[in-house]
Order: sequence, then structure tokens, then C-alpha cells
Amino acid sequence: MAREYNAEMGTLGSALARWRSYRQIHRALIVVLVLCTLLVLERYRVALSGTFAVSDGPAVAPEQVETVDDDGSAEMDDSMFNAGNSTLGFHKIYYVNMRARHDREDAMALQSYISGVETTDFPAVEADLIDPVGMPPTHRPSVLKVGEKGCWRAHANIWSEMVRKKLPPVLIIESDATWDVNIRPIMARMNREFVTFMRNINSTAVHDPSWGSKNNKHPLATGRSVKRDPDPLHYAVEHPNGTVVRPPAAHIPFRADDPWLSEHWDLFSLGQCFEHSQDHHIHHKYHDPRVPSGKDYWGTSLGNERVLRRSGGITCTTAYAITHTGAAKLLMRGAVDLDNPVDLLIRRLTLSRDLVAYSVMPPVIAQFEFLGGIGMGERGAQSDINGGKHKDTPADASMPGWDDVKRTGSVWTTKGHHRDVTFEKMALDVAWEQILGDAQLEKSWYDPQAGD
Ligand SMILES: *[C@@H]1O[C@H](CO)[C@@H](O)[C@H](O)[C@H]1NC(C)=O
Ligand SMILES: *[C@@H]1O[C@H](CO)[C@@H](O)[C@H](O)[C@H]1NC(C)=O
Ligand SMILES: *[C@@H]1O[C@H](CO)[C@@H](O)[C@H](O)[C@H]1NC(C)=O
Repeated sequence: MAREYNAEMGTLGSALARWRSYRQIHRALIVVLVLCTLLVLERYRVALSGTFAVSDGPAVAPEQVETVDDDGSAEMDDSMFNAGNSTLGFHKIYYVNMRARHDREDAMALQSYISGVETTDFPAVEADLIDPVGMPPTHRPSVLKVGEKGCWRAHANIWSEMVRKKLPPVLIIESDATWDVNIRPIMARMNREFVTFMRNINSTAVHDPSWGSKNNKHPLATGRSVKRDPDPLHYAVEHPNGTVVRPPAAHIPFRADDPWLSEHWDLFSLGQCFEHSQDHHIHHKYHDPRVPSGKDYWGTSLGNERVLRRSGGITCTTAYAITHTGAAKLLMRGAVDLDNPVDLLIRRLTLSRDLVAYSVMPPVIAQFEFLGGIGMGERGAQSDINGGKHKDTPADASMPGWDDVKRTGSVWTTKGHHRDVTFEKMALDVAWEQILGDAQLEKSWYDPQAGD
């Protein structure tokens, strides 16, 4: 580009010398020259900004920037664009994995590679790091297994870091997380709907007790007096008799720097296995062509649709975003009474409405496991929670599952009993084809006839 530009200037320069005597042409030429220069510079600028726009991944799917009639603003486009970036609009994606689970580390690398997702490793807490002396008090001694204690601690380490550094929201994913290969456009679209949902329910900011925030109780922090929100439910409530009680309206803008409006929630689950019925009527349903139809939302059958909802209480911490206010609440609750495994701790604090939580159904992220009949169940590879040493697959194990693998190139599947889960193209299922094309696994097997 730069070389072309100089060549063009050179040609114009010699033309200018030849016609110097003609004053009018001279003037006209200057105007043309200026226009040419502007044009070239503009093309250069566009080319450059194009490079910046796609620097953190492949070009975004067209739907990410599609215009819609309700807002269509530049702010909305920027918010959606960032919500579909490589960290899905969060500060970071922390990936929690046990030292020994190289299998999961590789699966994570492969699906991130083809779907443009960037994760940051956060070590899990292994059983040998759990000592009763370092565990918080509990009113239910002997209930938690050592694996559950380690799992809680891994999450608590992240919460602690968030609280100490007052970090912007992060997405925490566990090692067996999988998603649709189009997760970035899925998240971009969801962002527009999430902001709409927050507007529809007249959401207000959650109580932020951190130093320097306007709610902080220390007089030196702000000089202002404390005014706690009297109503822990920051949203419109529809009573069974039809009366709708709403807090005062606040205009909620799209924000490119904080696409998920993190002041409005403590926790946002993208990957629960089950949800409670509490508050399921506080929801927002929207069209998403990447959801196969046929799921059920509390008695309503869904088409190509997802539902954003106020969480009643999730099970499974496969993938959830958390804000520093949520991290502080969970760290506080666990430090006082560690009476539940981590997901039930979250669930109970949501049920008591102390945690302002949202979730999406069908979840955008789900748990994977190995297909049956390929020798992985025998090794105890389907769960980490029970911990301990594992045996290798015996040589005479029953292996009917390999027939499927030969056909599909995938050894993974979503957990069967998670009834809300559905994907158009699970990243781990399409990884073989995207990376190896139409290569057939069997062709690279040892051939006893050829002896190689
Ligand atoms: C993605 O967007 C969020 C929100 O604007 C931002 O904090 C984050 O740094 C972005 N991720 C990358 C990799 O640029
Ligand atoms: C409906 O129920 C709510 C909550 O119980 C109550 O505050 C409200 O007055 C009721 N409205 C009517 C019309 O009965
Ligand atoms: C939000 O609040 C405004 C003003 O109180 C009200 O007019 C509007 O109906 C509310 N929106 C919803 C859907 O709750």
C-alpha cells in the first residue's frame, strides 16, 4: 500500500512539472492532488482499521452485526461485537483443570482453536493440597468429600483474586466444558437480548459494598452515608394475582467496555445442568437459529429459541460468569460456613435471593464426557470429584464404541441426562472434520496385511 502511494505521488509530481506554466491547470491540479491524497489516505485507514477489527479472531459471522429495529445504534453494534470477542465479552475466561487431566486440556485446546476462544489456565486444587486445618468452619462436618473441598477451593481462589483486585467480570469454565463451534456469534446475539432483558425488567445495579463505591460503609471511602437498597429483588415481580410491581425505570445503555452490564448481577450462568423453578417467569425469550427446536421451558415448547432468565438456583458450575460483588458474597458465605459443595453453595445463595443471578436455557456451554464402549469408563475418566488413583483400561475391555468413532471422528458427547442441552454443532463433534477434513481414522490404523 505504502509503495503504491509513493509511485502515485511520483507520477503526479512529474506531471506537475510539465504543466507548471499553466496557472489554471496548476490550481485545478492541486485540488485534484489533495483529493487523490485524501482518497489514498482514506483507503489506507480503512485497510488498517479492518486489520484491527479482526485481530483477535476470524471475521465475525454476518449475524453479529445485523441491524435490528429496536435500537440499531453504534453502541449496540460495539457491545455485540465485544460480547462475541475471543473472551466472550468478559475480562478473561478462566479454565480450571486438574494436573492429570491432559485429555481435557487437549480437548479444550482443540475446540478453542476452531471456535476462536481464548482461555487462561487456572490450576485446580488437588487433594494433596487440602488439609482440614485450612478449611473454613462448617455446621455440617464430614459432609464434603475431599474432591468437593478441592473443587470449592479452586473456585474460591478465583473469587479471592477477583475480590482482591476488584476485577471486571470473568467467565469461569470447568475442564469438561464444551460449546457450539459458533459460540462467538451466539454470544453476540445473546448480548443484544440480555440488554433488552435488563431494560424490560427495569433492572438496577446490585449493592456494591467495595471500597470506593458509593455504598461502601466506611465514611472515608466516599464521605456519603449508606443507603442500602431496601428490596433485594432488583426487578419487576409479577404476583400470581396479576399485579406487577416494578422499580423505577432507568435507561440502561449498551456498553462496549462492559457488554454484559456487570453492575446488574452477581452471577450469570452459561452452563448449568439444572435450574430451579423459582423466578422462572422472570424471563426473556428470543430467536436463535443455532438452537435446535424442541426443548421445553417450564411447559412451553421452544422453537429455535433461547430463554434468558432470572436464576432460581443452578446445579453444576460448568460455566458461569461472576462479578466482584458475586465473588465477595460467595467467598463470604463459604468462609463462614462451608456446608455444601460449590454448586449447591451457589444454588442456596440464589434460592435465598442473596445472590442476583441469571442463566440461559438451553445453556450455551455444557459438560462433555467420553462415549461409552471406548475404555474410558473403566479408567474413571468420566468424573474428577471422587479423586484418587485410577487403573488403566484392561486389554480385554469391551469396545463396541469404536465403530461410532471410526464413522464420526469424535470420542465425545454431551452428558445424556442434562435434558436442557442441545447444540447445532458441538465444537468437539466437528473438530475432526474441521482439522482433518474427510480423513478416515481407520486409514491411519496399523494394517496387519501390509504389516505397517
Ligand atoms: C473482549 O471484550 C471485553 C469487554 O469489552 C474486554 O474486557 C476484553 O478485554 C475483550 N477481550 C479481548 C481478548 O480483547
Ligand atoms: C396481589 O398480590 C400482591 C402480593 O401479594 C399484593 O401486594 C397486591 O395488593 C395484590 N393485588 C390485588 C389486586 O389483589
Ligand atoms: C419500567 O418502568 C417504567 C417507569 O416506571 C414503566 O413505565 C415501564 O412500564 C417499566 N417497564 C417494565 C416492562 O417493567
